[in-house]
Amino acid sequence: MKRHRSILILLLATLGSVFLITHLQAGAAPAPPAAPASGTDDSIDRGARALLVEGRRVFRYDTFGSEAFWGGKLRLHEAVLGQGLGGVGQGVSPKTALSLGLKVDAAALPKAVVDGIKSGAISLDKPETTVELLKLNAVLGLTGTFDAGKKTLTGLGIQCALCHSTVDDSFAPGIGRRRDGWPNRDLDVGAIVATAPSLKPFEELLGVDDAAVRSVLKSWGPGKYDAELDQDGKAKRPDGKSAATLLPAAFGLAGVNLHTYNGWGSVTYWNAYVAVTQMHGQGTFFDPRLNDKDQYPVAVKAGFHNVRNTPDQVTSKLAALHYYQLSIPAPKPPAGSFSAAAASRGKGVFEGKARCASCHVPPLFVEPGWPMHTGAEIGIDDFQASRSPDKRFYRTTPLAGLFTRTKGGFYHDGRFADLQAVVAHYDGHMKLQLSESEKADLVEYLKSL
Ligand code: HEC
Ligand code: HEC
Repeated sequence: MKRHRSILILLLATLGSVFLITHLQAGAAPAPPAAPASGTDDSIDRGARALLVEGRRVFRYDTFGSEAFWGGKLRLHEAVLGQGLGGVGQGVSPKTALSLGLKVDAAALPKAVVDGIKSGAISLDKPETTVELLKLNAVLGLTGTFDAGKKTLTGLGIQCALCHSTVDDSFAPGIGRRRDGWPNRDLDVGAIVATAPSLKPFEELLGVDDAAVRSVLKSWGPGKYDAELDQDGKAKRPDGKSAATLLPAAFGLAGVNLHTYNGWGSVTYWNAYVAVTQMHGQGTFFDPRLNDKDQYPVAVKAGFHNVRNTPDQVTSKLAALHYYQLSIPAPKPPAGSFSAAAASRGKGVFEGKARCASCHVPPLFVEPGWPMHTGAEIGIDDFQASRSPDKRFYRTTPLAGLFTRTKGGFYHDGRFADLQAVVAHYDGHMKLQLSESEKADLVEYLKSL
């Protein structure tokens, strides 16, 4: 027993000195662990930062290989070039691009270009300038591909930032610093797509001719897009108006369970859906709910319920993209854009007599849990609700940052032109009997969110 103990002591002493010697020699730094640290504060913080940076890059700059569609099939870049530069039509000058709602990232412009635009030496009337802006990667949500010499525009791909970012107009209207997550309610997606020389893929999918596709695209108008048309083929609502919806905010999404106006799924579900079936990126998307020929005849024809492209340029980016969107806070309205005193009275109305907070639960302004309601509950038709896989519900819209989306109106299709109209709708539908001053206070509160 005694002998064993002394051997043990000897062994420990030897090990201890070996340890000391090696570490003193190595400048006292502990040896790196064999496996990377996991679960420590430091590794989590570093991982979070890496996801954020990569997610931002994907959101702003990744085309997911979509140039094979927008450039390769629709030849959209030829419309940008115009006949003069070897494309088709008049070409798209920066002025035209801005008038279609496209935005320019001022941070991507070198000083010489800024000076040239200011002095007028660089013309905003020529498609050549648009090509230069694309070379600088300065057009939000559009990326050009170029030949090896970086001379000729050979294709065009799109990004999330096309519809879900805008700029602060700090340089000029439509040119400024990026604002990720703000819906671009100036953007006329349909008019932009309709400049493409070929719309064959849409003709084939929808089973209609070129003129019919163009008329659908032109029926959307600024700030709208129809993300479900190439699944159910419904271009119009029963009342004959366009079935397109408003571009929603992509900020303030953390803590919210379901996304899209009619709750298709989580943020990451929808990101895969959009990247593969709407942006026509090269990736993987699986949702057997779409394999229903009565509800989604177009999806069934296109096989959208089970898309497998190789190489897959989407799946590896979903985690970072998800993380980034959850990191974008809802913006606060500028001071002076609402009456603080009226807003504070309006808060009482919102949480009390008007019962708004029963669905728009502060501070998320959406129910924790399953935030879905029928059209009848909120006093509207159920057309858009019926287009989602569960066919029945609208999701309670998170209300923070409402001031960024006043253009185009409120509710999924902008049916209420302003907040006064929204409040009047609830007042009638829910028989709230709000006084005129309560309604006005409620509107000021909504403006303050
Ligand atoms: C062509 C315009 C367009 C592009 C490009 C686009 N989106 Fe959207 N996005 C929409 C529209 C329209 C909706 C609403 C769809 C609906 O409710 O049916 C939407 C909905 C969303 C939502 C749901 C927001 C909510 O809570 O309701 C998120 C999140 C989102 N998009 C993120 C993205 C990301 C990430 C990308 C890139 C992978 C992307 N979008 C690309 C137009 C676009
Ligand atoms: C029964 C649940 C419910 C109640 C109660 C409710 N809402 Fe809503 N709210 C919704 C749903 C669902 C939507 C989405 C409707 C759509 O997009 O068509 C919505 C949308 C909105 C919008 C539009 C947001 C946007 O970006 O377009 C505003 C504003 C709003 N509600 C304010 C209110 C106010 C103010 C009250 C109280 C008077 C209220 N809501 C009561 C469920 C509710």
